[in-house]
Amino acid sequence: MLKEVYDMPKLIGFAIALIGSLLIPAVIALDQTKLVIAASDDSPSYTAAGELKMPRQYREWIFLSSGLDMNYNSVAAAPGHHTFENVFVNPDSYRSFLRSGKWPDKTIFILELRAAASAASINKNGQTQAEQVVAHEVHVKDARLDGGWAFFEGNDSGIGKPIKRPADCYQCHESHAAVDTTFVQFYPTLLPVARDKGTLSAAYLKEEATTHAAK
Ligand code: HEC
Repeated sequence: MLKEVYDMPKLIGFAIALIGSLLIPAVIALDQTKLVIAASDDSPSYTAAGELKMPRQYREWIFLSSGLDMNYNSVAAAPGHHTFENVFVNPDSYRSFLRSGKWPDKTIFILELRAAASAASINKNGQTQAEQVVAHEVHVKDARLDGGWAFFEGNDSGIGKPIKRPADCYQCHESHAAVDTTFVQFYPTLLPVARDKGTLSAAYLKEEATTHAAK
């Protein structure tokens, strides 16, 4: 009996050490889960002033397409100045689109405008993309926003300034874009999905029919 009493502190010490050694890895594991959740959390968030916090990891998102010198009013690009438009969308929304042909709430697109470079390194012909990013434009679907979708103009401090309605951006996207105000007709992996799922906009289908009839 006496012996047992003497051994008690040792036993308690041992028990604490045992619980500790089990607990520490569990806490670390919990922290790592948190980190993973934070890293893949690509839903839109805003400052108190309603500006978008620009998603920094968009280059790890799904790449949809690159347009070169696209313009919508037949004005040619200034000679020697070319621009690529790279379009990215957050991965969860992309996967959802593949299943349904629709964009879920909290979809974010980034349009990255990047200067073109010619004769860089061993390249003698054609254009490659330069390091210099000219601008970032963002299109966000969020039920909390006026009209359900909004545009933002990125700036160097990581903030997207909201573009208020009415603006050309909304007008053109709403009247010509193939799916839910987004230009799916220029995203080659998505156009067949929208066609299959029957989610192409009436305006786009009408425009297509007129263009084909005119040819
Ligand atoms: C006259 C038509 C037109 C106007 C005006 C216009 N866009 Fe677009 N936008 C397009 C087209 C076409 C695409 C497809 C781009 C590509 O393939 O490079 C596009 C794509 C985008 C995308 C990629 C996501 C999507 O919706 O498909 C963003 C972001 C975007 N535009 C932002 C803007 C912003 C911001 C403005 C206003 C400052 C604007 N656009 C004005 C035609 C327009």
